[in-house]
Amino acid sequence: MTLIATNKVNIHVADWDKNKDVLTEIRKIVFIEEQNVPQDMEWDGHDETAIHYLARFNDKVIACARLKTDGQIGRMAVLENYRRQGIGNKLLVFVIQHAITNNFKQLFLHAQVDAIPFYEKQSFIAHGDIFIEADIPHREMYKIIN
Ligand SMILES: CC(C)(COP(=O)(O)OP(=O)(O)OC[C@H]1O[C@@H](n2cnc3c(N)ncnc32)[C@H](O)[C@@H]1OP(=O)(O)O)[C@@H](O)C(=O)NCCC(=O)NCCS
Repeated sequence: MTLIATNKVNIHVADWDKNKDVLTEIRKIVFIEEQNVPQDMEWDGHDETAIHYLARFNDKVIACARLKTDGQIGRMAVLENYRRQGIGNKLLVFVIQHAITNNFKQLFLHAQVDAIPFYEKQSFIAHGDIFIEADIPHREMYKIIN
């Protein structure tokens, strides 16, 4: 584990065309290699229209997320060595604030069941049955933001 000061982590809105290399690299490591998500599910055709976010520490990209036009947050990934020290939470708060600024009214996501407590910390509410996506149990969660 690489311990870092969360206040030194810089989060910014990314650009798919400009930041495609680092965005794909981090998602390849976390989702395709670590979680065995199939390539065709990972690259689902929504990246060109989604808003993307990156977290950097000393210019090294350590986390990412995206927000689709329909209000779905996804592809939330922190590199393994940097987890459980508040970086994911900082990134999620940034995404929520950015969505509010951009007049989204409701956010939703498909949470891996293990990650439900992570999203509950930011008041997302789980509802409906557990379903399987990429062989991983998920539940839908939502948050009303206006
Ligand atoms: C889920 C993920 C983004 C969380 O990022 P992180 O930087 O480790 O999370 P944080 O350290 O900011 O955690 C924030 C809070 O959520 C809790 N939390 C984080 N991951 C959790 C988990 N898997 N299960 C339960 N609680 C969790 C933390 O304990 C923390 O609570 P605290 O403030 O009381 O300590 C990260 O584990 C990850 O990238 N996982 C692999 C990809 C993935 O599964 N993405 C989610 C798809 S739905």
